[in-house]
Amino acid sequence: MQKKNAQRERVLHLLEEEGGVTEEAVRRISGETGVPEADIWGTGLFYSLISNPGKRVRVCDGLSCRIKGADDLALSLSEEGKECERVSCLGQCDRAPATLDEDLEQVCYGVQKRGLVPDDPALPMNLGGKLNDSYSSLGKAREIGPEAVIAKIEESSLQGRGGAAFPAHIKWKGVRAQAETERYVICNADEAEPGTFKDREIILRQPHLLLEGLAIAAFAVEAKDIIIYIRGEFTSERRRIEQAIEEAADKLGDFHWRIANGHGAYICGEETALMESLEGKRGMPRLKPPYPTESGFRGKPTLMHNVETAACIPSIVERGGEWFKGLGRTEPGTKLYCVSGHINRPGVYELPLGVTLDELVEVAGGYDGTPMAFSPGGPSSGFLPISDRNVPLDFGHLAKAGSMLGSAGLVVLNDTVDMAKATKWQLDFFERESCGQCAPCRIGTRYLRRQVDSFLADGDVSALEFVGDVGWEMEEGSICGLGMVAAKPLESAIKHFPKAFNGRSE
Ligand SMILES: Cc1cc2nc3c(=O)[nH]c(=O)nc-3n(C[C@H](O)[C@H](O)[C@H](O)COP(=O)(O)O)c2cc1C
Ligand code: SF4
Repeated sequence: MQKKNAQRERVLHLLEEEGGVTEEAVRRISGETGVPEADIWGTGLFYSLISNPGKRVRVCDGLSCRIKGADDLALSLSEEGKECERVSCLGQCDRAPATLDEDLEQVCYGVQKRGLVPDDPALPMNLGGKLNDSYSSLGKAREIGPEAVIAKIEESSLQGRGGAAFPAHIKWKGVRAQAETERYVICNADEAEPGTFKDREIILRQPHLLLEGLAIAAFAVEAKDIIIYIRGEFTSERRRIEQAIEEAADKLGDFHWRIANGHGAYICGEETALMESLEGKRGMPRLKPPYPTESGFRGKPTLMHNVETAACIPSIVERGGEWFKGLGRTEPGTKLYCVSGHINRPGVYELPLGVTLDELVEVAGGYDGTPMAFSPGGPSSGFLPISDRNVPLDFGHLAKAGSMLGSAGLVVLNDTVDMAKATKWQLDFFERESCGQCAPCRIGTRYLRRQVDSFLADGDVSALEFVGDVGWEMEEGSICGLGMVAAKPLESAIKHFPKAFNGRSE
């Protein structure tokens, strides 16, 4: 069985090497691995970078890119004779409108005035500071032992930065409590929520903090294997991690490191879908429980953390949980906020958790135009009106305001934006990225997008009559977070910007 699973895990890698899903490739891989051909077809076609690997420019469809002219850019590239593909998000919202060239190396067509990152050693991540590659925190962790390390993480009240804000120490204790000794630590570097590009900056600017954080976590939960699952479009980021692992080889100890590529499916950021993908299958979320801490990758106890969560760990071990907790204003720690859209200096800013939108935007050079709305944490968070500008940007307060911080990909919209169109763009995203296994999500995402399209075409509000009911079905009947929140952009836009949905003719 183990041998069979090991063969299965090779399927996506082999398809990548073959350059896509072709009859010949599938036949060859099936012969080599024993996985049925139909299965390989089904798996390969699930992933956009495998099913559609051809050479072309990818133009980002994320909200920030669309409000900064991605549609016009795609048109002019096509007129120049370039083959273009519109893609969900490239994780480059600060360079909007963003594109990727044919070889998945980033190119910028957008005019940029990007944020400057300050050098402040008092910050846990200090993205603007000198490279922190001392690995002294890993040494300290070894000195004090796993239990004391976990006690520091508990004291810090560190919440997961991948979106769910789950207390980190509970997962660490959960993995440690398992009788099974084959355990895994996985870093979720799939960063694909439109509006979010903070993990990219950590990897490029402070990769050793990430590696050190993961090594400390693996030491504490007694795992030998550390896997970094990185989104497929992050080519230079992957190279930076590989280089950092080489640089720190003598400091990292005897963990087994592996970097695995994502293949162009947003849903693989969801933790169980990510593990399915690592196991060589379609990235479809699993039903929980069991949770990954009990039964994760290969059915073994697995600790998964977002890049930012892992990068917080070295400072906590070094300077203590109380110190970290005290850095936050309304919740523990600092937060890497990604800010883009109608902002003068889009970028990633490390600030106390709980700052307000105005404070964040002041650091980011001010608003571009008259702000009207903002989306605090990607499409999943819907829209808030600018009158909510004083709500602390943390997990709890934004939830109370009917939104979420998620991965803190903030997009600001000024009063030139048509909210009905902005809503449609967010719905496009969910329709495209639904994995399709739950009927309410598969059918609901398409239904909502179609109804808004119909409203935009003729201004007839009756198209929106049942969207509330469908949204409720989706929230109640979906396996994972995608389906549960996919109606949020429409529901929140209708609630806060009713005039945009009041009937129109164009
Ligand atoms: C649809 C969906 C997409 C997600 N995408 C990501 C992602 O790109 N990166 C990430 O770290 N977490 C993502 N998550 C959250 C993960 O499932 C998981 O909670 C997280 O990786 C755990 O790490 P943390 O405890 O450090 O936050 C996503 C969740 C859902 C439901
Ligand atoms: S809710 Fe949507 S994305 Fe999530 S498992 Fe169901 S179909 Fe897939």
